[in-house]
Amino acid sequence: MNGVNRVALIGTGFVGSSYAFAMLNQGITEELVLIDLNKEKSEGDAMDLNHGLPFAPSPTKIWFGDYSDCKDADLVVITAGANQKPGETRLDLVDKNMKVFQSIVSQVMASGFNGIFLVATNPVDILTYATWKFSGLPKERIIGSGTILDTARFRYLLGEYFQVDARNVHAYIIGEHGDTELPVWSHADIGGRSVLDLVNERSEYKQADLENIFTNVRDAAYHIIQRKGATYYGIAMGLARLTKAILQNENAVLTVSAYLDGQYGQHNIYIGVPAIVNRNGIREVIELKLTEEERAKFSHSANVLKQVLDSFFH
Ligand code: LAC
Repeated sequence: MNGVNRVALIGTGFVGSSYAFAMLNQGITEELVLIDLNKEKSEGDAMDLNHGLPFAPSPTKIWFGDYSDCKDADLVVITAGANQKPGETRLDLVDKNMKVFQSIVSQVMASGFNGIFLVATNPVDILTYATWKFSGLPKERIIGSGTILDTARFRYLLGEYFQVDARNVHAYIIGEHGDTELPVWSHADIGGRSVLDLVNERSEYKQADLENIFTNVRDAAYHIIQRKGATYYGIAMGLARLTKAILQNENAVLTVSAYLDGQYGQHNIYIGVPAIVNRNGIREVIELKLTEEERAKFSHSANVLKQVLDSFFH
C-alpha cells in the first residue's frame, strides 16, 4: 500500500512458518510481517528467517509485528487456527476456527486494512466466506487457497503416471477442499492430449489407475497427517504461488476458493474453481463446460458447503 509490497501473515504455526520460508526463498515480497498469539515463536521465526537473508535471492524485511502493521499491507494471509488431527475431517474444524476468524478479521479491519485477504485455514471454503462476511470487503478481494493444492497433487500424480513433467499436465480438481472435491477429467490433458483419449487408445493406461490417482489426491492429507501429524510444505508453496500471482499482477489461472454468483449454477458460496488471479484479487471465475456427471458432483459439493454455511450465516 505504500509503494512497497507488504504481506501480513496471521499465524506462524507449521503452515505459516513454511509459507514465510517459501516467501523468503523465492523473494516474492519486500516486507513480511509475522503476527501470532505466540509472541515468542513468531519473534524466533523472524530472527531465524532474517539470518537466512544473505542466502535469499532478494532482500525481504521480516519482523514480528501486530495488527496495526496490517494497515499498509497489500495482502493479509491467514493460516491461524486448529488443524486436522488423525481421523478428523476439515469440516470438523469449523466451530473452533469460526470463532478464531471472527476475532482475527475484526482486528485486521480495525487497523484500516483495505487490501486482499488470502485464507488457508480449514475448512477453507467456509472460512473464506466468513472472512468476506466479517470484513465487508468486495467479494473478489477475498480468496481462499481452495483446491490449489489438490490440483497440484493431481498434476503431480498424473505426471508420474504418464511420465511427463507435472508442469505440462493440465488438469483441475474443483469443489470443496475436502472429501467432496472432484476431478474434471473432461478437461484433463497431457501436453494437449486428452487423458481420457490416452487411456482409451493406449492399452498400457488403465481407467482403474486414473480412479486410484484421484482417490490418492482426495485422501492425501489423511495419509500425510497419519505419518507426520500435519501437512504444511505443499500448502505453503501453493500460498506462495498465489501471493506471487497477486503481487506481480500475473492474471494467472489457479484453482482457488472464489465467490460464485451464478457460475456453475451456484450462488452465494465460496468454492474451488479455476479463476484468473491478479493484483485486484479474482478478476474472473472460469466456467468450464462440465459433463453431466461432473456437474452433479460439483452441485453435491456445493450443497455440502451450503449446509454448513446455513448453520452460521442464514
Ligand atoms: C491439505 C490441507 C492444506 O490438504 O488441507 O494438506
